[in-house]
Amino acid sequence: MAPQNIYRSQWDRFAEKWRPKSEDLVWPGDEWGTRQHWDMIFRTMFLDYGVADWKNCVEIGAGSGKYTEQVLRVSEARIVAFDISPSYQKVMRERLSAYVASGRLQPAIIEARDPGELIEYLEGQKLVRALDTFYSIDAMVHVDLQYLMAYFMTAALALKENGLMIMTLANAISKPGFKKLLQGVKQFYPMQGQPSAKFEWLSPEIVGTVLANLGFDVTFVGGQPQLESGRDLMVAARLVDLDKAEQFRGYLYWPAGIPPAEVPSTS
Ligand SMILES: C[S@@+](CC[C@H](N)C(=O)[O-])C[C@H]1O[C@@H](n2cnc3c(N)ncnc32)[C@H](O)[C@@H]1O
Repeated sequence: MAPQNIYRSQWDRFAEKWRPKSEDLVWPGDEWGTRQHWDMIFRTMFLDYGVADWKNCVEIGAGSGKYTEQVLRVSEARIVAFDISPSYQKVMRERLSAYVASGRLQPAIIEARDPGELIEYLEGQKLVRALDTFYSIDAMVHVDLQYLMAYFMTAALALKENGLMIMTLANAISKPGFKKLLQGVKQFYPMQGQPSAKFEWLSPEIVGTVLANLGFDVTFVGGQPQLESGRDLMVAARLVDLDKAEQFRGYLYWPAGIPPAEVPSTS
């Protein structure tokens, strides 16, 4: 029997135990940020990047579907929405049941055992090199770069040329990010090695360099994040170099029937 994924269980518990604490909280996750903040994200990371014309998208960590719903409403896009938590996904299925029924929203669970699982799923859907956008908001701030790499690589292998990866990530160097890093010290120090909702800290330099290595042209929404800017890194990366993206395929997976070739050395 497969070992229980304790990281997944924590997100499941969160969704299952969630109760609204005020009238304007309707769905699990509505307590993250304010409506004004959600609107700012949607305007600067979706509307300004042509969401109305997107046709095929992947979302990671959709949760209850806060941004999923907005993308579906303003476009004709079809979305494959991956999440690690079946309980969160159940909420999203209920909330957006009409879109699921029409086939525009396709929920999919991440098992977190095989890093090739997402690209293989997308191959099955004939979505490889057919994606306009691969996005994730307020979710990958919790995911360590070693795991996140599988999603970055999936985006690099599935997006069309000039397709977009749009993502918020935790920025340790902005003033609000640094403050949150300080505020977590007492809470998280005794939890080493345990699943938690702590942030996994990155910086513009790390994100910019890693994504450029995979073939992306990286911009940060609102300009290069500096000390005074917002808490999260708001990444809009365009896939410009497909050859670069392809050369690391063997680190993620090998398509069925194609024998593993020598993978390029990173040292
Ligand atoms: C903070 S919620 C954000 C949900 C939604 N994007 C929003 O803004 O309301 C985080 C979501 O990411 C999912 N998640 C956390 N870690 C993940 C991972 N490694 N891979 C995929 N989904 C993950 C959780 O199950 C949850 O649905």
